[in-house]
Amino acid sequence: MSEAHDREVSGSQLIGKLLDQASRADPYPIYAELRDLGGPVWIEEMTTLVVARYGECETLLRDPRLSAERWRRGGDQADRLYPPDAPSSVHQPWFLSQDAPDHTRLRRLVSSAFTARTIARMEPYITQLVDDLLDRASERDTFDVLHDFAYPLPVAVICRMLGVPVADEPLFQGWSAQLTRLVDGLSNATTDGETPEWEPGMTDMHRYVNELIAERRTSPRKDDLISDLIAAKDGGDALSHDELVSTIVLLLVAGHETTVNLIANGVLALLRHPRHLTALSADPDLAPAVVEEILRYDPPVQLTARIAAEDMRIGEVDVPKLSMIILLLASAQRDPEANPDPDSFDPHRTQARNLAFGFGPHFCLGAPLARLEGRLAMAGFARRVQNPRLIADPPPYREHLNLRGVSELPIAHVTR
Ligand code: HEM
Repeated sequence: MSEAHDREVSGSQLIGKLLDQASRADPYPIYAELRDLGGPVWIEEMTTLVVARYGECETLLRDPRLSAERWRRGGDQADRLYPPDAPSSVHQPWFLSQDAPDHTRLRRLVSSAFTARTIARMEPYITQLVDDLLDRASERDTFDVLHDFAYPLPVAVICRMLGVPVADEPLFQGWSAQLTRLVDGLSNATTDGETPEWEPGMTDMHRYVNELIAERRTSPRKDDLISDLIAAKDGGDALSHDELVSTIVLLLVAGHETTVNLIANGVLALLRHPRHLTALSADPDLAPAVVEEILRYDPPVQLTARIAAEDMRIGEVDVPKLSMIILLLASAQRDPEANPDPDSFDPHRTQARNLAFGFGPHFCLGAPLARLEGRLAMAGFARRVQNPRLIADPPPYREHLNLRGVSELPIAHVTR
């Protein structure tokens, strides 16, 4: 048997292990074995290439022959996902899943509204929110870091940015969970062939966002993201109504569960490395470095996918057009060729190489907001929660492979 064939067989077995729920608590040893195979691994039965090493992931993320239009591979999936009677905005693809020139145009327009200033003005609100959540949690001797702290924070922030009344936040929480199921189901569909069903809540969400936009068109507000998105101009160009709706939905889905998992994975890493938690509680200025290391060590987004827009050769593999290419970002960051001693959690690293927010044209637009929320949440937790203790280690994990996160994180504590 050839070396390439041996690698394909071992690779298939490792991917089988990775897809198994039993690996959720710690997929990292499997990533290491995949990297040790020495190059991208072709999985024939999935017509998928799996890329586990840093250098290859980084190079492929900016290769124009790779398309982010993942739907192209799906045949009739789009119709099942987006039924014809749904609002027209539902059919407008997110720019996350578009290529140049459409992606470039939409991203430029959205960036002109989602600016550093937009994000910086959220800091006092997020600081207060962190305190309020920890105040409520401190009423009990034990609390669940996921449900009582990490989960409510990002949705409250995005709702505040969009001017959604506080009373409607639970609606957005529910919609975000449904969206995540859809998006995750779609990526699982690449492996088991099942397509997730349309969730009726999505129609309600699109209607709600439509109404928000209509209201802001008649009464624009100052310091308001929707009003800024409506006003965004690039020459004579502006976002269409459906593009506005789809962008707002994208901001919700891209920014919610990811940030939830940054906070929960982060608290877990600190509880397992109490020396760094103690240091952070004494010096909140360490928070940015702690957040960077959490993103490197246990990132919320474990992988992203592209499709081959043409026949191509990657490493030693001939990859046919429309093949799926899975880029294991979480594995890349643990590649010893990118980061020395990659399995140790060390916020004092200098020049760590990180793909947690992606790389190239689709680099996360919300990275500054996620970093701000992560920094304030970690610093707040370290300052306020005394003697925290994990009640279960390892905690139970959600079934998602790409969005990595626990399903609960109960701790015992004394809160200041
Ligand atoms: C794109 C990760 C938070 C909005 C991405 C990508 C990654 C990522 C890996 C690139 C996907 C790809 O190349 O296929 C994360 C992580 C977050 C986070 C780990 C939290 C820790 C946020 C937040 C927002 C946001 C808070 C906004 C509210 C976006 C958008 C894109 C994106 C709009 C698409 C960019 C494009 O296609 O040009 N994110 N994200 N993200 N993210 Fe985030």
